[in-house]
Amino acid sequence: MQRRGAWGRSVAVVAVAFVAGGVAAAVVLPRDAPTTGAALDVPGVVAPRSDPAGRSEAGRSDPAGTAPAATPAATAATAGAPTSAPPAIDLHSRSTTDPASLWVVVNKIHPLDPVRYAPDDLVQAGPEKVRAVVAHDLDAMLAGAKRDGVTLTIQSGFRDYAYQRTIFSNMLALHGREYAESLSARPGFSEHQTGLAVDVGSASRSSCDFDPCFASTDEGRWVARDAWRYGFVVRYTKENRPVTGYAPEGWHLRYVGRELAGWMHDEHVTTLEEVFGIRGSATYE
Ligand code: DAL
Ligand code: ZN
Repeated sequence: MQRRGAWGRSVAVVAVAFVAGGVAAAVVLPRDAPTTGAALDVPGVVAPRSDPAGRSEAGRSDPAGTAPAATPAATAATAGAPTSAPPAIDLHSRSTTDPASLWVVVNKIHPLDPVRYAPDDLVQAGPEKVRAVVAHDLDAMLAGAKRDGVTLTIQSGFRDYAYQRTIFSNMLALHGREYAESLSARPGFSEHQTGLAVDVGSASRSSCDFDPCFASTDEGRWVARDAWRYGFVVRYTKENRPVTGYAPEGWHLRYVGRELAGWMHDEHVTTLEEVFGIRGSATYE
């Protein structure tokens, strides 16, 4: 269950300009962007990291999002790349719009479609549920952390539309719009509704669960350093706030698979929006 009470503490908000890895000049229109110039003049517009063709939507070749991505080795071999080259990745191998795709991008201007989507392959993961594709690596991550002497807890996994609406409404009623919008997604706009997101907690300092101080716990530091090895991305950071619109949440992990998480780590790319050249926004439009 989501521990809403823990979200009631004040959050130190640091606005930091987002620099999209030096690629901001090559703006790529998103899949559904209006074509006016004004539409491009937003901080969340970024270009994809490896898309020489300039396409703006990944995954058209796999609308169901079920095809496995090319392995880095296979892709490098096909391209004739030397073995010392960084692993290549086919960023178009999965859909970014199909809610069932591992690489679906959900943000304040890209809700789930359909908005009440719910996955049909949820499995139990501790006290919560996640999609089956997440479960193995989630277990592996918890075990890996444990080997390093760090005990992660699972605080929240899949949340359906109705539950997300309850969370958001409660936040709104208790703390007002600005605070609520900075910490909770509206129903239909949450990665938790995909079954691919997990909020982890700190066994050593559970008072820091869902709190900015999580980042300074052993668990928070471990996650920031190592979650990518298991296919997870820390989705909301202070640096990418202008793109996501959320205050840093060092506990909110989005599963994208080991290949993409490893690539993002190696390339120092921190947002899915930048990876795929999809618009993000600090506000709903
Ligand atoms: N806390 C994240 C943004 C969510 O509600 O999905
Ligand atoms: Zn979360």
